[in-house]
Amino acid sequence: MENAGRRRHAAASAGYWQFMREFLRHPRQIGAVCPSSPVLCRSIASLVPHGRGLVVELGPGGGAVTAALLRRGVAPRDLVLVERSEALARQLAERFPAVCLIRGDAAQLAGFEALRHKRVRAIVSSLPLRSLPAADVRRILDQISAVSSPGTVFIQFSYALRRSYDGMAQGYAREQARVVWRNIPPARVEAFRFSAEYPQSLAA
Ligand SMILES: C[S@@+](CC[C@H](N)C(=O)[O-])C[C@H]1O[C@@H](n2cnc3c(N)ncnc32)[C@H](O)[C@@H]1O
Repeated sequence: MENAGRRRHAAASAGYWQFMREFLRHPRQIGAVCPSSPVLCRSIASLVPHGRGLVVELGPGGGAVTAALLRRGVAPRDLVLVERSEALARQLAERFPAVCLIRGDAAQLAGFEALRHKRVRAIVSSLPLRSLPAADVRRILDQISAVSSPGTVFIQFSYALRRSYDGMAQGYAREQARVVWRNIPPARVEAFRFSAEYPQSLAA
């Protein structure tokens, strides 16, 4: 037991340093100086509806939110991770061997085989939308709309406490927003729902 605890602690601290190294190498892509706090991760996971369909996590990094999603009851077979950093993806593969991991770019979402013809229940994004180039953000948001169907929930957090992201993914309407103070820095979590009115021809 003691050994298991020590192993977990060693893995967590190795994960932290890996995250920091990635931040120093690619600050705009990582967009945060440390992984999300357990309180923020729980708050994000609590917005994922129970039910059928995939839960797609964009930018899982070291897996802080991933672990909270599994604790929330998302089955490993329903979870798909999309991570662009090869170093962090290696860490995720070791930590979550039963979860589908796509080493790739969220801007290519609709092209991934794992999502083809599958209903997506929720998209959980930790992507730093405010620090990524605007053209990349537009492509990512369009891909989010493309893999969504009526009822899909999109969850995004940001460190801008007062303002929502200006041009959110098409077809989505904001359902709720909350501030989580126990995080460095405090974060605003927002949940959006894809509406039936969005023309599916545009989502194809
Ligand atoms: C702020 S970190 C979040 C890490 C973790 N989810 C957390 O909350 O602690 C953002 C993550 O998004 C990843 N990322 C950034 N742009 C991406 C993209 N276009 N596609 C996939 N992952 C991306 C980064 O590599 C990084 O792991």
